[in-house]
Amino acid sequence: MRMTPVVLVLGGVLVFAPVFFMFVLLPWITMSEQGSDIFRQRTPLEEEGRSIYVNNGCTYCHTQFIRNFDWDIGSERIAQAGDYVADSPHLLGTERTGPDLSEEGGEHPNDWHQAHFANPRFTRPESLMPSWDFLGPEKIKALIAYKQSLGFKLADERTARQNYWKAESTAAFESGPEKNVEWLHSHVPEGWRKLPNPYLTSAAGLGRGHRIYQSFCIGCHGPVGDGMGPAQPYLYPPPLNFTILKDRGISGGILYYQIMNGITGTAMPYFKKDLQSEKIWDAGNYVAVTFIGQTDAHAEPRGIDAAYEPVVKEK
Ligand code: HEC
Ligand code: HEC
Repeated sequence: MRMTPVVLVLGGVLVFAPVFFMFVLLPWITMSEQGSDIFRQRTPLEEEGRSIYVNNGCTYCHTQFIRNFDWDIGSERIAQAGDYVADSPHLLGTERTGPDLSEEGGEHPNDWHQAHFANPRFTRPESLMPSWDFLGPEKIKALIAYKQSLGFKLADERTARQNYWKAESTAAFESGPEKNVEWLHSHVPEGWRKLPNPYLTSAAGLGRGHRIYQSFCIGCHGPVGDGMGPAQPYLYPPPLNFTILKDRGISGGILYYQIMNGITGTAMPYFKKDLQSEKIWDAGNYVAVTFIGQTDAHAEPRGIDAAYEPVVKEK
């Protein structure tokens, strides 16, 4: 067959048509405007926050989708097409320098976001996210409203839970240190309250705890554990002053439980995704020894010393 211009054009069309059908027509026909089960419209303030998010390139460091194999990197919900029906442009993103934000709503209370946007190092000492203080209070307010809307109806439920516990923890804080500690510990499950720290207070363990404290806690609880870190002016209830825990029934298990689970309603985040079990025990031990001045880490029977621990000579 001769390669005439007609054959050339026809051949081109024949190749192009199926591709056009598959990648343009088919998606267009099957595209749905139907929102997913969690979808709701955004409020004007949330929309304003969204445009600030777009203008400031937050999407260069943050994604807004979770796939099956991303499980546990940020949120717990697999994204669906219907989550994005109101998004133009969509903000899926391709870079995860920071965590995925598709379900950020209700992860933290507003005061945590205030401190974090003022300077991310306040709440997360090793963060490389830039400060957004230059945006000013109005824009930061809109940005926070947008953050709290991520996850739509699920976010609303989580935010309502934050608000409920915010009221409870604020009332407890305002009733004085004695009552506050009582309140904090009354929500720790019984078994944890009685559990001593199973690790010895070895120099190595305390060294590890010190390192963890500097990387995760110092911005709120402060260098001397009195709750006066740089995030303090933004947070209410303020970060706990560890020294008030002395002689108030504190145990290794309580410290562990609070660090692992966080205290919803307060800025105290949960660390179960950032720190493995051993690191949580080490951080708890460091806080107990250094700031509270009391530790139950040597409680008897203390078990057979682990192989990696230095040999402790009985006095
Ligand atoms: C240069 C990269 C970068 C940019 C740009 C950036 N972030 Fe981040 N972001 C991070 C990193 C890294 C973290 C994790 C450490 C931390 O909490 O600060 C983070 C954390 C966060 C978190 C906390 C998530 C959580 O629950 O722990 C929020 C919310 C957030 N960023 C929002 C924003 C918003 C809104 C913008 C734009 C105004 C933005 N980020 C721009 C890197 C970035
Ligand atoms: C963003 C601020 C912030 C960060 C970061 C933070 N905390 Fe907290 N922490 C708080 C606040 C706020 C409370 C609760 C104060 C209250 O309700 O009175 C709290 C409470 C606690 C408690 C509860 C004590 C008890 O007796 O129930 C422990 C333990 C604790 N923090 C340890 C840590 C450790 C360890 C780290 C680092 C791994 C850390 N916190 C990081 C703000 C923070």
